[in-house]
Amino acid sequence: MTRTVDSTIDRPERRLRAEERTLPRHGMNHLDPLAQRTLAELAGESAGAARVFARHGLDFCCGGRIPLAEACAKQGLDPRALLRELAAEERGDDAPQTWSSQPLTELVQHIVTRYHAPLLPEIARLLTMAQRVEKVHAGKESCPRGLAAELAEWSESLALHLRKEEDVLFPLIAQDAGPRAASTIKTLETEHDDHAKALARIRALTDDHVPPTEACGTWRALYAGLAEFELELMRHVHLENHVLYPRALQSTMRTSPPDTCASATKAVPR
Ligand SMILES: [Fe+2]
Ligand SMILES: [Fe+2]
Repeated sequence: MTRTVDSTIDRPERRLRAEERTLPRHGMNHLDPLAQRTLAELAGESAGAARVFARHGLDFCCGGRIPLAEACAKQGLDPRALLRELAAEERGDDAPQTWSSQPLTELVQHIVTRYHAPLLPEIARLLTMAQRVEKVHAGKESCPRGLAAELAEWSESLALHLRKEEDVLFPLIAQDAGPRAASTIKTLETEHDDHAKALARIRALTDDHVPPTEACGTWRALYAGLAEFELELMRHVHLENHVLYPRALQSTMRTSPPDTCASATKAVPR
């Protein structure tokens, strides 16, 4: 998936604070301020943090509202090692991202351009590679059997999800609908949970995107593409769950017919 440089995201004030980037020297007390912040907060301030979390399978999207320390405990990760990795990533990170104060219409346009536009072509590309790998390497024990079917089914639900956002939610945001968008947003958040489950199934099928030693070039490119796809989707969902949706709900309420889940479903027939 092609990444684009976003001129709005290099905002030093939103980078991890200097004292948080300093490595701890004397035990966990020095880690507390950063370790007690949520994955969603950290990923929202640093693209590097999002990369580190994705590498370790830490969900900063739908499950991102828990402190870093708690997430590490659940995954059996050493929080000190993770914080060192965050600090190293941050030093090389020139693109922390924040949309907490930009106009909502600009945020919506950014999501459409940066995340929606390339998503379906990319999953189609990955599907083609998965079909090829499963066909050519069917006899190998390490073949990711079922991956192509998983991607094919998921691409359909992803397409519906994008349409629901672009045809129902984003127009509501443009109308400054505020809490009237609540039922649509609830539906979309549930679908984000489904995306997270699909990502987990794909990780299970691909040994966490690690190709076996006998993997050919296509196989390796497929797994690299899946890892990149996961990271992009997590950034995308993070931005919606933790920035766009909360900000949309806080917008000014205006008098007009109530929005309902039914209207969202009606606009995007299944
Ligand atoms: Fe989206
Ligand atoms: Fe979404």
